[in-house]
Amino acid sequence: MMSVSLIWGVVIAVCCCWWLLLGTRRRQMGEPPLENGLIPYLGCALQFGANPLEFLRANQRKHGHVFTCKLMGNYVHFITNPLLYHKVLYHGKYFDWKKFHFTASAKAFGHRRIDPSDGNTTDNISKTIIKTLQGDALNSLSEAMMENLQLVLRPQVVPKPKTPTWMSEGMYAFCYRVMFEAGYFTLFGKDLSGQDAQKALILNHLDHFKQFDKIFPALVAGFPIHVFKTGHYAREKLAEGLRLQKLRKRDHISELVRFLNDTLSTLDDTEKAKSFLAVLWASQANTIPATFWSLFQMIRNPEAMKAATEEVNKMLENAGQKISFEDNPIYLNRIQLDDMPVLDSIIKESLRLSSASLNIRTAKEDFTLHLQDSSYNIRKDDIIALYPQLMHLDPEIYPDPLTFKYDRYLDENGKTRSTFYSNGLKLKYYYMPFGSGATICPGRLFAVQEIKQFLILMLSYFELEFVESCVQCPPLDQSRAGLGVLPPLNDIEFRYKFKHL
Ligand code: HEM
Ligand SMILES: *[C@@H]1O[C@H](CO)[C@@H](O)[C@H](O)[C@H]1NC(C)=O
Ligand SMILES: *[C@@H]1O[C@H](CO)[C@@H](O)[C@H](O)[C@H]1NC(C)=O
Ligand SMILES: *[C@@H]1O[C@H](CO)[C@@H](O)[C@H](O)[C@H]1NC(C)=O
Repeated sequence: MMSVSLIWGVVIAVCCCWWLLLGTRRRQMGEPPLENGLIPYLGCALQFGANPLEFLRANQRKHGHVFTCKLMGNYVHFITNPLLYHKVLYHGKYFDWKKFHFTASAKAFGHRRIDPSDGNTTDNISKTIIKTLQGDALNSLSEAMMENLQLVLRPQVVPKPKTPTWMSEGMYAFCYRVMFEAGYFTLFGKDLSGQDAQKALILNHLDHFKQFDKIFPALVAGFPIHVFKTGHYAREKLAEGLRLQKLRKRDHISELVRFLNDTLSTLDDTEKAKSFLAVLWASQANTIPATFWSLFQMIRNPEAMKAATEEVNKMLENAGQKISFEDNPIYLNRIQLDDMPVLDSIIKESLRLSSASLNIRTAKEDFTLHLQDSSYNIRKDDIIALYPQLMHLDPEIYPDPLTFKYDRYLDENGKTRSTFYSNGLKLKYYYMPFGSGATICPGRLFAVQEIKQFLILMLSYFELEFVESCVQCPPLDQSRAGLGVLPPLNDIEFRYKFKHL
């Protein structure tokens, strides 16, 4: 018995030495400072995962603005100085931005790789998505969203004794419900089988979406979906609802989904449904927490609330729109929506404080990364990463960075401010919750419009207040750091009551 464990002990010791000698990379001439971490394969992943912001700040203090960390078997080069971001993005020809994205998407949603270069699809999917989320397509998308939001928010039947009562609900739960329902209708159309059936169906999808979204970070990290019984079931159910035979029973399906259906013509029905699920997730997962933070911060800050209310009232008046439950829903066109700098600033400031996305590019080949005064050798298959939260919370760029200031993105004339400085130099990139360069979010214009529409409607239709008089800002759920806008760790109760009944 003794000898068996002795043999095992020796084997393990030899393996460890082997790993120390061969498995870890050594920093070579011209490469950034390297943190291998202490654990094989994982490297620094545990420290990074526990608190990315603190981990990166500590390395920044130790190594300067550029350093390399081993994370889950990958070598990741972090460039942390926002003045260098545009220099990094300038090296596009050495970057493969699709490799990581298509792999992660296939893992999380269970579809085949839909990168045209894999041969499963022929057309350019990015092109289809951009064409159907921007330009003229955005007008009809935005119009449909405004109508659907009001379908969800306004009472179906005006109650007879016209005495409005307060309703209370968790604010995050409220935003989740309203944005999910209206967003689902806007992309995938409305069920033809009647109001009640539709309501039951959408609440069912909502439930499944929450279950699936909960395991999403684990799927991206590489855990197989079979480990998660409830999450797996939820994903299959969601995809089932997006199969063509189900979509056939729906009306007003968006161009995005119809064109994507054509672009993916070589895929079978199951594969298509899973790709649609990817679109559903992309359209909701960040928008829902972003909507929550915008509403929460606005209500919590009396000055923001006052400025926003004034802007909304003025715009509705100029547009000749009257708020009533009997009349047609409110409508504002794109030019009008784009001309609301106060709401823009509130949304931007809310996203600055809550977004934690990781922008990733894979090196196609060995190359030299030329930054301001220095150059770094990068090896093939290494990852170049930007973590914009470091910039969003940099006190030099944004003084008093943890405080919500509703007018941070307004200039002295009340118009949109776009000049921010670091080290006395004007920044090209100062606000990046939607990513950058080739992987910038194609839905960013629609996202801002729908959040804005939501705020306009909340201010117009309801009186709003918190249930408790002294509300603390809930902490961010760091378990989703890297994926986008972080949700609150706990919900906040609020009350709303119809005006104008
Ligand atoms: C506040 C809301 C949103 C935020 C913060 C956000 C953020 C992002 C970010 C950071 C990426 C890039 C991910 C990466 O670099 O890997 C991305 C990708 C994407 N977003 Fe958004 N997004 C939002 C809303 C939306 C909406 C409403 C839609 C669609 C209706 C959408 C559609 C997409 C799609 C399709 C991609 C993948 C693009 C590609 O890989 O080619 N997003 N989003
Ligand atoms: C299609 O997708 C599968 C699964 O991701 C992949 O293995 C294959 O190489 C792709 N290409 C073709 C032509 O099937
Ligand atoms: C697809 O279209 C995008 C945007 O128009 C372009 O940047 C990309 O190079 C195209 N990819 C392919 C494989 O044609
Ligand atoms: C999707 O494409 C198929 C053919 O590939 C077509 O029969 C179906 O009607 C299309 N559905 C939608 C919603 O566009």
